[in-house]
Amino acid sequence: MATPSGRGRSAAARTLWPWRIAVALAAFAPLPCWLRQAMTGHAGPEPGRYLMEHLGKGTLVLLLLTLSLTPLQRLSRWQGFSRIRRQLGLWTFAYALLHLLAYLWFFLGFNAHALLADLSRRPYIMVGMAALAGLTLMAATSHRRAMRRLGKSWKRLHRLVYAVLILGLLHYFWIVRADLGEWAIYALAGLLLLVLRLPPVAKEFSRQGRPPVTDA
Ligand code: HEM
Repeated sequence: MATPSGRGRSAAARTLWPWRIAVALAAFAPLPCWLRQAMTGHAGPEPGRYLMEHLGKGTLVLLLLTLSLTPLQRLSRWQGFSRIRRQLGLWTFAYALLHLLAYLWFFLGFNAHALLADLSRRPYIMVGMAALAGLTLMAATSHRRAMRRLGKSWKRLHRLVYAVLILGLLHYFWIVRADLGEWAIYALAGLLLLVLRLPPVAKEFSRQGRPPVTDA
């Protein structure tokens, strides 16, 4: 992710702020709605499960949206897509943390013994935890200082996002394997986004892109 400096950067930052606000509002908006549903008895017999499941799906949707920004940027040549990628990635991480919190709270009542028992009974929870560990590493190294310090390894480290996607889909698959209809939609979207990153496809995609559009 190239980072402009000096005047270019402040001009880009000025034009990007409405996008940043829109992303923040869109990512935040579902949370109070789900909470309200859960608190007013509109979330079925298990409001805790309702919250946890919505947060799990929300994590996956945000992850897919984050991954879609690079192909969009290649196609449109608008650098703004790559600049809001970090913000969307951090929202993905926040949703995953809330999903974990909802699980620990509503499923386990913050009981460590219940967690150990559940881990041995339902291995897909370990898979979710591995995905969250990947997201945590990326969130912790998403700032400019870490990019500078890690140099070329930063890009390699952030390829973890593909493993996170595969682990997230596997985690979801394990839960819903008796009815894969909805899962298949997420899996197809994920597969498409991975295919778009294959070097020959990515190259062709960039060639198809329109002439650069300046955001200043
Ligand atoms: C510490 C990490 C995680 C834990 C402990 C965890 C745990 C769980 C549990 C217990 C369920 C519900 C299973 C059931 O219905 O019986 C669930 C559902 C789900 N999780 Fe996770 N998860 C984690 C991370 C993730 C991550 C990182 C993602 C996405 C990338 C994710 C996506 C989902 C999805 C899509 C569902 C299904 C929701 C539904 O059935 O509608 N989870 N998770």
